[in-house]
Amino acid sequence: MDGNGRWAKRRGLPRTVGHQAGAEALKRIVQAAPDLGIRWLTVFGFSTENWSRPVAEVAELMALPQRYFRSDLPRLEREGVRVRVIGREGGLSRDLLAMCREAEARTAHNKSLFLTIAFNYGGQADIADAARRFAEEVAAGRAKPSDLDEAAFAGRLSTAGLPPPDLIVRPSGEQRLSNFVLWEAAYAEFVFQDVLWPDYAPEHLKAAIAEYHTRDRRYGAVIADDVLAAG
Ligand code: IPE
Ligand code: MG
Repeated sequence: MDGNGRWAKRRGLPRTVGHQAGAEALKRIVQAAPDLGIRWLTVFGFSTENWSRPVAEVAELMALPQRYFRSDLPRLEREGVRVRVIGREGGLSRDLLAMCREAEARTAHNKSLFLTIAFNYGGQADIADAARRFAEEVAAGRAKPSDLDEAAFAGRLSTAGLPPPDLIVRPSGEQRLSNFVLWEAAYAEFVFQDVLWPDYAPEHLKAAIAEYHTRDRRYGAVIADDVLAAG
């Protein structure tokens, strides 16, 4: 979710207002996702690098998940959305963590949409944390170095259990991953859209999905027709 600051700046408003508008965009997209055929939706809310922003802006970003759950948790619960919050817990307030765990517990039985919110998340941090966890298991005699393969490693990331992303959409015109799901993105398709996140509407996501369907996914292999054509 990118472009909140620029959206606000264009209107002569403080960046915090942009983040509030961004939260409204998230509500719209979560509501629209199941009708667009989406079963797993993962959003990047706050990165391990975002701490370097001004204190007041960080405080506003920290307040957003609680505000979101306070206003929307009953609806998420009712509409079959299962919430999971991933990212490092260190640095987050006790209240914020408690609210996240409550949202997860109250929606644990849901299965229509799996909504993952990456908050205080960084792809590199997540890989380092998974490596450390594995090293600790080896040190404790609970695992051997030879146990580690791609699947075993993926199972130690915070995204364990989620399918790898088919499509990664970045709004706001920036064309980079910015430390999002680095490991998981190996074969994801990317769509970059020139719309600021607070303006993001279901039609933009629909367009991104349409673009996705024009892609030819080969996962490093060749497609069967080409094998036949080559004899
Ligand atoms: C939201 O947009 C992303 C978050 C970190 C919450 P930005 O705050 O990065 O907006 P821009 O990039 O300055 O426009
Ligand atoms: Mg940005």
